[in-house]
Amino acid sequence: MAIEEQIVSMDKLVALCKRRGFVFGSSELYGGLSGFWDYGPLGVELKQNIKRAWWRANVHLRDDVVGLESALIMPSAIWAASGHLQNFNDPLVECQSCKRRFRADDLEGATVCPQCGGPLSEARQFNTMFQTQVGPVADEGSIAYLRPETAQGTFVNFKNVLQSTPHKIPFGIAQIGKSFRNEITTGNFIFRSREFEQMELEFFVKPGTDDEWFDYWRDERMRWWTHDIGIRPQNIRLRDHAVSELSHYSKQTSDFEYRYPFGTRELEGVADRTDFDLKAHMAGSGIDLTYYDDETQERYVPYVIEPAVGVDRTFLVVLLDAYDEEQTGPKPSDRRTVLRLKSQLAPYKVAVFPLVANKPDLVARARSIYATLKPEMMVAWDSIGNVGKRYRRQDEVGTPWCVTVDYQTLEDSTVTVRDRDTMTQERHPVVGLSDLFRERLVAG
Ligand code: GAP
Repeated sequence: MAIEEQIVSMDKLVALCKRRGFVFGSSELYGGLSGFWDYGPLGVELKQNIKRAWWRANVHLRDDVVGLESALIMPSAIWAASGHLQNFNDPLVECQSCKRRFRADDLEGATVCPQCGGPLSEARQFNTMFQTQVGPVADEGSIAYLRPETAQGTFVNFKNVLQSTPHKIPFGIAQIGKSFRNEITTGNFIFRSREFEQMELEFFVKPGTDDEWFDYWRDERMRWWTHDIGIRPQNIRLRDHAVSELSHYSKQTSDFEYRYPFGTRELEGVADRTDFDLKAHMAGSGIDLTYYDDETQERYVPYVIEPAVGVDRTFLVVLLDAYDEEQTGPKPSDRRTVLRLKSQLAPYKVAVFPLVANKPDLVARARSIYATLKPEMMVAWDSIGNVGKRYRRQDEVGTPWCVTVDYQTLEDSTVTVRDRDTMTQERHPVVGLSDLFRERLVAG
């Protein structure tokens, strides 16, 4: 089947993630906790590579963005000022027979329970922030909240960053970190969970230039998705929010939507948050957060353009887009599952094998190549089963290149390098292997 037409089922992807150590249900030993996930040995590598790709494009390669890591728990006063205590609600309906609860907007106006057919209550607003208490005394002053977005930690540090760096507007503050939402319903694997990670950029601009910057960031983010991350353009699209959908802080929002197996849904939002948040924190804290432009001698509250995406949702999309199944020969066993991940995202870049595991000189030579590559990049070692099976195992986790040490290696110091996507095998000298893979990684 042509790769463009393939949509892998969620069941297959979830099974692969568990089998190969990408994602496990959280607290499984105790029956699990709905809406929470743990990332296994390969998952944590993929997640880090995604975050690195985002940080590189949005911080390291730019002159106008710096990074920040703010606390996950912040006091009520911040959430009162930002409007989250009043507005960070989802409409909740309850089945009057089975007592199950649903997000009203997921039911598209239905009046009977999708589980038991019972009547549904009127919708009421449910605040999805997790509340906690800081310190041993439980009183009003100790109430705090786990952040539902990283953005507020950035806004309350706007002045600190401005005063500690030479940046002038327009400039941005990027943050990657956990956020928490007590979602009414979770589901579709890691698509919507209660603890997740976000990659958010708050880009501060002069009022009046915000429309231009909004367009700029939409284009730049599309470039990142299709070029840096390698998402197939036909699977991703931009959709502008209708006025009725806008968050309480937004003047205009565009969603990047992805064609998931369960429908076309949000992947990332780009919002024009105007001066809403900085003004709210000026009012809430009594501290001046205006910006003085030396050149034009104007004082103003900056507007903010915010591209915001979940790491976990990116992880899901990267896997869905990379997943492929292919018939490689006439026999039913000639079928392979392959993750066609961008090499920079792949958990392992290279796998090294001795042709057979019971020949000490082959194993020793392969071990030495493995040890040479290991400080440079993530390398897998596999000596179990035959080479064909090892290729299949590496294909399934997206390893771009496999190095096999065979008898010829002992004679002429060359190895076979097998390519994941084309399955072609070429001989290369052992000397220079690191350079070869490093060059290929840079080329993407
Ligand atoms: N600061 C703006 C903000 O948080 P959002 O659209 O609510 O906006 C941004 O969230 C992104 O965070 C979403 O596009 C999605 O990728 C991710 N996200 C939000 N809620 C999530 C959840 N419950 N589980 C996983 N990812 C989530």
